[in-house]
Amino acid sequence: MALTADQTVDALRAAGEPTRLRVLALLSAEELSVMELSRVLDQSQPRVSRHLKLMTDAGLIERFPDGARVFYRISADPQTHRLVDMILDLLDDAEGLADHERLEQVRTERAAAAAAYFEKVAPQWDRIRSLYVAETAVEAAIETAAGPGPFQRVVDLGTGSGRMLTLLGKRALMSIGLDLSHNMLNIARTNVTRAGLDRVELRHGDIFATRLPAQSADLVLVHQVLHYLVDPQAAVLEAARLVGPAGRLLIIDFAPHELESLREEHQHRRLGFSDEEIARWLADAGLAPEQPVALPPDTDGLTVTIWPATRPTLLERQAA
Ligand SMILES: C[S@@+](CC[C@H](N)C(=O)[O-])C[C@H]1O[C@@H](n2cnc3c(N)ncnc32)[C@H](O)[C@@H]1O
Repeated sequence: MALTADQTVDALRAAGEPTRLRVLALLSAEELSVMELSRVLDQSQPRVSRHLKLMTDAGLIERFPDGARVFYRISADPQTHRLVDMILDLLDDAEGLADHERLEQVRTERAAAAAAYFEKVAPQWDRIRSLYVAETAVEAAIETAAGPGPFQRVVDLGTGSGRMLTLLGKRALMSIGLDLSHNMLNIARTNVTRAGLDRVELRHGDIFATRLPAQSADLVLVHQVLHYLVDPQAAVLEAARLVGPAGRLLIIDFAPHELESLREEHQHRRLGFSDEEIARWLADAGLAPEQPVALPPDTDGLTVTIWPATRPTLLERQAA
């Protein structure tokens, strides 16, 4: 729906200030927390928060709390998004260069901290994974959500120690596990061999640019990876790109929670995801989201959710 004259004026007023234009340019690259914005802009958090509040009130950006942190992104409303793009198109890119360089620096540091964490914890990963979740129930539910197979090609993105491959690999003609951590891949190699799986390829690669062919898998898994990532939506988009006709994508991650300590101790960036957020990302990526399956913890752990989605057939798309 088009914006009213009042909404347009409010949005333009809210954008009409140099720092706020810088914030919009940064948020158009990725969702960011107040802390990260304040670092990139080199301004205090209260000052940045005032700018953010103004733009949130005008509907230009959306705020979403994540545990004790608050993240911001450009509004999902298509007309507002268009307005922001138009404003940013008018700006001289050179002016925002220093901000984008500082953002790149923040990203690099974050990615390096996460990569170092995974290289370090690789040998203990199977034990760490089971600390917060009722693993047996989760894995049984994943097997059900995946369907009976047999699968032509299973792709497990952020495979870690290869647990999803050993769980589902027997039902697949071939599987690919992709991960950024060499240590994790070495452990996955041992685990798949031990499980007697020989048609498994373990590849070093980035979930944001897998270099795997489009629509080449009938089952794609992203198990406990999204909450570490700087841009989880981009990872969902790349995972969805790999899903073949009538294939399935299973995203498995935490429901929203409050365990702040996981950020410092285990490099989590996001404290879980809501059903609405993931459903929107899946639909934007061209998949049909199915009913999520929530698996509450046995005792004081975390709720794990499975978000299944399929690639609709041409007939289903025409009927929709
Ligand atoms: C928490 S572990 C989960 C591993 C496995 N899916 C499991 O559930 O046991 C997250 C994995 O994602 C990998 N990872 C993180 N960022 C990645 C990226 N950008 N591309 C590929 N893998 C990544 C890490 O190296 C790590 O092995």
